[in-house]
Amino acid sequence: MKPEQADSRHNYAFRDNASASQRLDTLDEMFGESSREFVSTYPNRGTKLALDLGCGPGHTTRLLAESLRAQRTVGVDQSEVYVQNARARYPNLEFQSLDVTREMPLPPANVIYARFLLSHLPDPLEQVVHWSRHLARAGVALLEETQSIEPLDQGSRPYLELQKSLVDHHGGTLFVGPVLEQLSEIAELEVFHDEIQSVTPPGRLAGRSFSLNLQAWSDDAFVRQLHSPRELDRLKDRVHALTSYGASPVARWSIRQIMIRRRIN
Ligand SMILES: C[S@@+](CC[C@H](N)C(=O)[O-])C[C@H]1O[C@@H](n2cnc3c(N)ncnc32)[C@H](O)[C@@H]1O
Repeated sequence: MKPEQADSRHNYAFRDNASASQRLDTLDEMFGESSREFVSTYPNRGTKLALDLGCGPGHTTRLLAESLRAQRTVGVDQSEVYVQNARARYPNLEFQSLDVTREMPLPPANVIYARFLLSHLPDPLEQVVHWSRHLARAGVALLEETQSIEPLDQGSRPYLELQKSLVDHHGGTLFVGPVLEQLSEIAELEVFHDEIQSVTPPGRLAGRSFSLNLQAWSDDAFVRQLHSPRELDRLKDRVHALTSYGASPVARWSIRQIMIRRRIN
């Protein structure tokens, strides 16, 4: 393995720069509604502590706090930049900077929520077991991850292929949903809800999120190895054109939504 490959593995592929943060704002518009519906199906009476793992700039933490009304809601992210950003946006919520693949110095949680995080972590099944051991008695983990993304317009296809290669290169699995099928075979876990939600956000939002991602990755060594600056500019033009689609979708996301309990606690 070359040194630059070794360095980039297990690093979060989508970065925490200004473009990446704006992309997560756009993601909130694209997936906020389906996430709210999912989290609201969990009967939430008396939740003491809810954790949002990989919270980014805090949109999902706000969503969790508003949907569950837990006594305490904490968003955690390994990026100090995102944690500062989240504190500034949502001063009434609590945020901590932590690597969630390691020990979490927080009390056992009644609810652990994570959206679009397992895609970026090595060994996603082991991560879920690790998190489940941090659940309080009768606590639940609510997970939302990508099952697949189907381009509905040819303009989306090359961008989506690059996105998948980049996440794989950084040690993740963009389409981690099918891997999560195996959670039901893990003896200490009980999967009590498992659905695939189809989401077709407006092209103007999808195109904007693709454009922002391309900006966020513009200095990524792997992206630069795959594409010349000229090719990247062409790709940027192609995805920018998708923003003119207005309300028409340019891609269909299948989102796997899973609820898990721990059998032994
Ligand atoms: C795709 S973003 C999703 C953000 C948010 N959950 C949402 O859906 O808008 C993934 C987030 O996970 C964070 N992350 C990646 N690896 C992490 C780790 N090991 N520990 C904590 N956070 C991590 C990244 O910094 C990023 O903010």
